[in-house]
Amino acid sequence: MTVNVEIDGEIAIVTIENPPVNAVSGAVRERLLALAVAFDDDPNVRAVVLTGAGKLFVAGADIAEFDRPPEPPFLPDVIARIEASAKPWIAAIRGAALGGGLELALGCRFRVATASARFALPEINLGIIPGAGGTQRLPRVVGVTEAIRIVAENHSPDGVEALRLGLVYTLVDEPLVPAAVAFARSVVGQALPPSSIQRAASMPPPDVWAEAEARVTAGARGAAAPPQALQALKHGIEHGAEAGLALERSTFLALRATEEAAALRHLFFAERAALRPADMRALNPLPIETVGVVGGGTMGSGIAAALLNAGLSVVLIEQDEAAVLRARSTLASLFESSRRRGLISDDDAAGWMARLETAIGYGAAGRCDMVIEAVFEDLAVKRSVFAELGRVCRPDTILATNTSYIDPRLIADGLPGQERFLGLHFFSPAQVMKLLEIVPTPETAPDVLATGYDLACRLGKIPVRSGICDGFIGNRILRRYRAEAETLVRGGVGIAAVDAAMRAFGFAMGPFEMQDMAGLDIAFLYREAARSRGEPLPDMPGDLLVRAGRKGQKTGGGWYDYAAGDRRPRPSADAERVIAPLVGAKTEMAGEAIVSRLMASMAEEGHAILAEGIALGAADIDLVEVHGYGFPRKCGGPMFQAGRTGKT
Ligand code: 3HC
Ligand code: NAI
Repeated sequence: MTVNVEIDGEIAIVTIENPPVNAVSGAVRERLLALAVAFDDDPNVRAVVLTGAGKLFVAGADIAEFDRPPEPPFLPDVIARIEASAKPWIAAIRGAALGGGLELALGCRFRVATASARFALPEINLGIIPGAGGTQRLPRVVGVTEAIRIVAENHSPDGVEALRLGLVYTLVDEPLVPAAVAFARSVVGQALPPSSIQRAASMPPPDVWAEAEARVTAGARGAAAPPQALQALKHGIEHGAEAGLALERSTFLALRATEEAAALRHLFFAERAALRPADMRALNPLPIETVGVVGGGTMGSGIAAALLNAGLSVVLIEQDEAAVLRARSTLASLFESSRRRGLISDDDAAGWMARLETAIGYGAAGRCDMVIEAVFEDLAVKRSVFAELGRVCRPDTILATNTSYIDPRLIADGLPGQERFLGLHFFSPAQVMKLLEIVPTPETAPDVLATGYDLACRLGKIPVRSGICDGFIGNRILRRYRAEAETLVRGGVGIAAVDAAMRAFGFAMGPFEMQDMAGLDIAFLYREAARSRGEPLPDMPGDLLVRAGRKGQKTGGGWYDYAAGDRRPRPSADAERVIAPLVGAKTEMAGEAIVSRLMASMAEEGHAILAEGIALGAADIDLVEVHGYGFPRKCGGPMFQAGRTGKT
């Protein structure tokens, strides 16, 4: 049963029980509508308590239904019917009341909640706006200024704040339902208060709209939904609730049908599936409290920061005193900058440094539950590290490498207890980037793999399993993407035209700007190594640039020129001259055609990766691109794009 009814004297208790999150599916809507009609006709029922089974109230509309046309009864009609009921409906809320769940609660005459309840309208994260009155009822209940924050800026009050805002009538303690029933009894027989939609909307001072529009548009970074959510809210305040509801619904339906919303839904489900792959669900991760990090450079420091952020204790092992001091100072400045930006308190920062131990030599690794290696990308160096770890660590200590390219099987070769070894490939900056590629070897034990997933969840990261190949999933696609971009340039397309096209598509940077920022030399050295092994790799424009000393921003120029202290790329006659021997006659190519070429090459590599079993599913490849490589979220990922356009 998706909606259960229990009668307690004159109070009907309606419980939405639609696991896992009590989403308002078609069946729930139908039953709620029928109940609203039936209770009005039932003289024995004098008030209705509406609640959710389990940990939460209602997580919103059923997002899985959004790929189909809406089916009646529609949620706005169900809510309007509840709101029009002759008897008081009381929403009893614990846990999350999100999206359509909050809208449902707003349709009730009263809301009671526990202090830890959470209220939000997260529709904008799905590329839509609230579609069942949220933009209209909420400002009439909490005022325009607060409603803007919740509707268009993802603000999410808890029960205590909701009480202060007037969103809930009173806070109640657990057990929730008896408390809500007692409340319902106390209002039986009283005149109904005005419904949310009937309440007078107060006009905000004129500058509120202009300020909110500027703020919301800037915060949206090109996403369609947040400014439109604000517009619906504003329209209802200026033209009345009926006009507001009409605009809200038409905007909701139009956005729901966009590619952007489909892409965001695809990622919503992919992200959740990634955290709990089917074959990991029955496994118990091993307990991890203290993690060793070997190497405190760019990645080691970032990984340590991510671990400390998650409340773990860290032992950071470096080669010498100077490197230890460097790592400590990197971490101290990371925490200081978080503290300055108000992201953490002084106590948090102090707590982190207290949980950080630094060491020279491997003795302290003996106390670690897991050790993550992040030393130079050199097989011999990595092997020597694991030889030491194999000697000093407990036999059950999990050992992981953060290698970008080296075959983890070669790194683990000779290690005692290879079943506890795996690749954990973080992305830079590791305390920020959400992606964690998890790379098991054939020997990795299932519970060790499960521990990798568990660690990713604890760090707030998205784990994606990758098989072993050169560059794993992400760097392999990146290489293909860059190679295709260089092919375009060799065909006469302008460097700046390629970058501009990819920026217009939604990347923060184009492929050449990105290379200039990261440095061209690493990929160059990689190709040179392949050439020295006898691989037939022809020269590429990037090789010519590095040989001419143009390694990117750090040398004042790469694909572009850079003025001292200025990261803005400027077209470079020198770069053009250097690569001229490999470049054909200049040609114009439309931005869309550039995007479609580069997308097709990424998807083609993705299909090869799938065919080889390196990625477990196409959605995993999209997650890698979105969370590790800045692929625009609103475009869903290269495999999603290929699926929509039918191209590979
Ligand atoms: N519809 C369908 N399925 C949903 C869902 C929803 N609204 N919300 C969550 N799920 C599914 C997830 O896909 C996942 O499925 P799985 O077990 O098969 O992977 C399962 O429920 C559990 O979700 P989480 O893994 O996210 O569980 P958590 O406990 O970590 O989080 C939550 C629970 C906070 C409710 C989180 O799921 C969430 O934020 N959900 C989305 C809320 C949302 O965006 N609501 C707005 C919907 S749009 C709407 O309401 C339109 C309206 O205005 C008309
Ligand atoms: P880095 O050069 O910034 O840091 C390496 C650190 O390891 C140095 O501080 C060095 O002193 C230390 N080190 C070297 N040998 C050591 C030893 N035997 N014991 C203890 N410490 C030792 O390098 P970076 O960029 O942090 O890379 C580390 C690893 O992470 C590499 O395998 C790299 O491929 C990988 N990686 C790098 C990414 C990046 O964007 N930089 C992204 C993802 C992975």
